[in-house]
Amino acid sequence: MAGSREQWNTKAGFLLAAVGSAVGLGNMWRFSYMTAEGGGAAFVALYLGFTAVVGLPIMLAELTLGRGSGRSPIGALAHFASGRAGGDAWKGLGIVFVAAGFLILSYYGVIAGWTVRYAGEALLGFGADPGAHFGEISAGWDAFGFHLAFMAATVAIVYGGVGAGIERVSLVAMPALFLLVIGIAVYAATLDGSTAGYEYYLNADFANVLSTKVMVDAAGQAFFSLSLGMGAMLTYASYLGRDNDLPSESLIIAASDFGVAFVAGLMVFPLIFALGLQGDVGDSTIGALFVALPKAFASMGFAGRVVGFLFFLALVFGALTSAISLLEVLVSAGMDGFGWERARSAVVMGAAVTALGGASAWSTDILGVIDAVALNLFLVGGGLALAVFVGWVMRDPVAEAGSGSRWGRFWLACWRNLLRFAVPAVLVWVLANGVPPTLQSVADLLGGS
Ligand code: TRP
Repeated sequence: MAGSREQWNTKAGFLLAAVGSAVGLGNMWRFSYMTAEGGGAAFVALYLGFTAVVGLPIMLAELTLGRGSGRSPIGALAHFASGRAGGDAWKGLGIVFVAAGFLILSYYGVIAGWTVRYAGEALLGFGADPGAHFGEISAGWDAFGFHLAFMAATVAIVYGGVGAGIERVSLVAMPALFLLVIGIAVYAATLDGSTAGYEYYLNADFANVLSTKVMVDAAGQAFFSLSLGMGAMLTYASYLGRDNDLPSESLIIAASDFGVAFVAGLMVFPLIFALGLQGDVGDSTIGALFVALPKAFASMGFAGRVVGFLFFLALVFGALTSAISLLEVLVSAGMDGFGWERARSAVVMGAAVTALGGASAWSTDILGVIDAVALNLFLVGGGLALAVFVGWVMRDPVAEAGSGSRWGRFWLACWRNLLRFAVPAVLVWVLANGVPPTLQSVADLLGGS
């Protein structure tokens, strides 16, 4: 069985695919409105802290489990749990991962659908009232239609396989995304009044950061942005050979992910502030990016059409390379668990998750609640379980992670101790503070208020 498993063609291909999974709507759409809500630079600093102290160790834990087992999440946990404390019960965690993948991809496809639509509308020129427009198109059959189109493209790529589908698309889309984001950030710097944007973005307001809510948000954002806590990185690593340097690759992936989020802020905030639209960010919601930026582009004439199109194109590339990683978790689970062929698994899983997206396409309130549940319960909880599993249950994770690596045992022992003590402590705190308000938001939604 192991002999027939697909593999990445090149190291660069794996790295770009993994960076492609991490870099997505989380870095541009979610990062911008979370930063606006959390007080600018102070939120960014917290998010960087979570990325380094919690995200990076869990990234390496996922890559280690994936490469070491050569299986999808359920199989990987079963493999390393066999004969250890908890035994087969750990398989349940793999099932939770797959469920989280269903939840996240279902609404991710809806937001990605908005970006596809906005790329087209940018070219034609945005209308006069983007707020009302967003209200009309963000929910209902329109939203579902674009979600469906986006998901069809996602299924087609995953259907193509690891090397010929996922890797090939990542090798083109990711470099294009880097160029677009950097180019637009440079363009934004040339606008009169952009300094107000930098001041807002880069000036820390630490009074705000000390709130529990902002800390919980920064943790959830770090997990989401790095694609951690549900086995996506694990699944990509399951197609790797033994000679990869996993600690170095974890660093590269985490640094690139933070880098793109940071530069995305350098394009979004100057654009918005140069045009005096900060009011639209202040009361930020899920729609901030889809309201404030079209206003900015609409007021910029022809340049606004071109830059607006390129901006939403970058979002589409980011969304696509992330969505394929989410779908790949479901597809590989179908292949390993049910013995399905890739083609069949891609179509069945893709159809199921697209249908589930109907709920988020129906109402942005539902979308917001699913997002909160997925992050604050599933991803953070999944991260905690992964840290405990690799730190305490798995046999000799240091040797497994260090194979093929130029990092010495000292650093890997530090990593294991982070997973044993610091990471669980932080995540228990985040869960304790994040779960009650999340459950409350579910109750509010079901109660119809
Ligand atoms: N990281 C992606 C983003 O920032 C989204 C994503 C892809 C993801 N795969 C994931 C999030 C797995 C959580 C888990 O847009």
